[in-house]
Amino acid sequence: MDELTQTVSGALAAVATAASLAELDEQRVRYLGKKGELTQHLKQLGQLDPDARRARGAEINALKEQLEQGLAARKEQLEAEELTRKLWSERVDVTLPGRRQAMGGLHPVTRTIERMEAFFESVGFEVVEGPEIEDDWHNFEALNIPPEHPARAMHDTFYIDPTTVLRTHTSPVQVRVMQSTEPPIRVICPGRVYRCDSDLTHSPMFHQVEGLVIAEGTGMPDLKGTVVDFLRAFFERDLAVKFRPSYFPFTEPSAEVDMQCVICGGGGCRVCKGTGWLEIMGCGMVHPRVLEMSGIDAERFTGYAFGMGVERLAMLRYGVNDLRLFYENDLRFLRQFN
Ligand code: DAH
Repeated sequence: MDELTQTVSGALAAVATAASLAELDEQRVRYLGKKGELTQHLKQLGQLDPDARRARGAEINALKEQLEQGLAARKEQLEAEELTRKLWSERVDVTLPGRRQAMGGLHPVTRTIERMEAFFESVGFEVVEGPEIEDDWHNFEALNIPPEHPARAMHDTFYIDPTTVLRTHTSPVQVRVMQSTEPPIRVICPGRVYRCDSDLTHSPMFHQVEGLVIAEGTGMPDLKGTVVDFLRAFFERDLAVKFRPSYFPFTEPSAEVDMQCVICGGGGCRVCKGTGWLEIMGCGMVHPRVLEMSGIDAERFTGYAFGMGVERLAMLRYGVNDLRLFYENDLRFLRQFN
């Protein structure tokens, strides 16, 4: 009996210091399991005579109960520790700074278009768009560029089929607006255009903004005023601007607009090729034939139009010296416009 009491007090010590629930269970099996030490003793009771069996049985059961209580107490402790550990490991430090959503930014070409739209909307123009897949008639014929016209050679056209093209300029949107709208008309048409041309200064896809005004009695002075105001607002500078006679099949008279170089201020640099001037857009009075082909009464209405490249304006405004940067989507470049 003494021996068993000693075994149990050893067991109680082991139970009290068991480091885990698994270790605790090992102790339980060792003493109270089917082949456990106490269980063995209980099994041997049958060999004793009835009186001795009762006394011995009571003693063993008391020890067994003691051990069971010890096991239960330690189990409760270990479970509480386990719970604390779990809660601690899953804790949320609400004072830590949150994970912020990375903010994207608008592409410089988009920003430039929005800047252009903002100016023109402020002086009464409406923004309209047209299809990028265009038919030959809208892209060329209705703009007074018949099939054999030499101007076609300048357009490096992507043909989808013999009568369908990727528009080579935004001018066909003029035609669509004139066909669908009664004058007075005052619109700008931003969008993508395509030319089969790719080198340091040309991309097969780029952007243009077209302008069209049709009204009774409008003329070159209105065109000049609008263009000069736009350039000065866009570059936020009191730039010198000049209109140089030029030729476009869809305008008569036609002009190209040169502005004082915004990089060197007119003194001459690499960007303006030493001239102090930058070619910035084409424009003119809409050719009466173009008006008539789109159903506008050319006896009553006159119109002016202009067209310019968005990337070129963006390069000059933001000081970007390589056109390809706009299409590479290098985040180090784009982030500068956030
Ligand atoms: N469509 C011409 C081009 O892509 C630009 C242009 C010139 C547009 C004169 C016009 C204009 O509206 O009047 O090169």
